[in-house]
Amino acid sequence: MAILPIVKYPDPRLRLKSEAVEDFNDDLKSLAQDMSETMLDAPGAGLAAPQVGRNIRMIVIAGADNDEDFDDRCLVLVNPQITWSAGEQTYDEGCLSVTDLNEKVIRAQEIEVKAQDLDGKPFNLSADGRRAVILQHEIDHLDGVLFLDHISQLKRDIYKRKMKKMQKEDSDE
Ligand code: NI
Repeated sequence: MAILPIVKYPDPRLRLKSEAVEDFNDDLKSLAQDMSETMLDAPGAGLAAPQVGRNIRMIVIAGADNDEDFDDRCLVLVNPQITWSAGEQTYDEGCLSVTDLNEKVIRAQEIEVKAQDLDGKPFNLSADGRRAVILQHEIDHLDGVLFLDHISQLKRDIYKRKMKKMQKEDSDE
């Protein structure tokens, strides 16, 4: 088990489309363990493999059950796909890869997801509310999409300028 470094925006690796997982081997299981530990340590409610520099289609989310009080159990989804969605909700999102930003994002209220577990066994999952938001956010990461892409151009530009300024200040020190 290990806490992995989190890849931060604007690292181009966050923009890659991740590859489907085909080998359900021990490396995959140990990566899932490390991702869970990294997420809980951060702490965060979800983490996608590209956020730890691995461009494969795997995410972990906090809480094994679909309820509001997340515990420290984690659910691993390999090759997740949203198969159905309905409704709309607005939720204040942040991301472990996007420092110092929380913004409201509009997403589906309810979703159904199909995925595989760490042994490659398929399963389906229904989610609504916050859990549906987290799943949509993490699955987006697998296609190189960040929650930043769902906010207004103006807010995005303000954030980009702020990040450039912070990077410049860091390099001036
Ligand atoms: Ni994120």
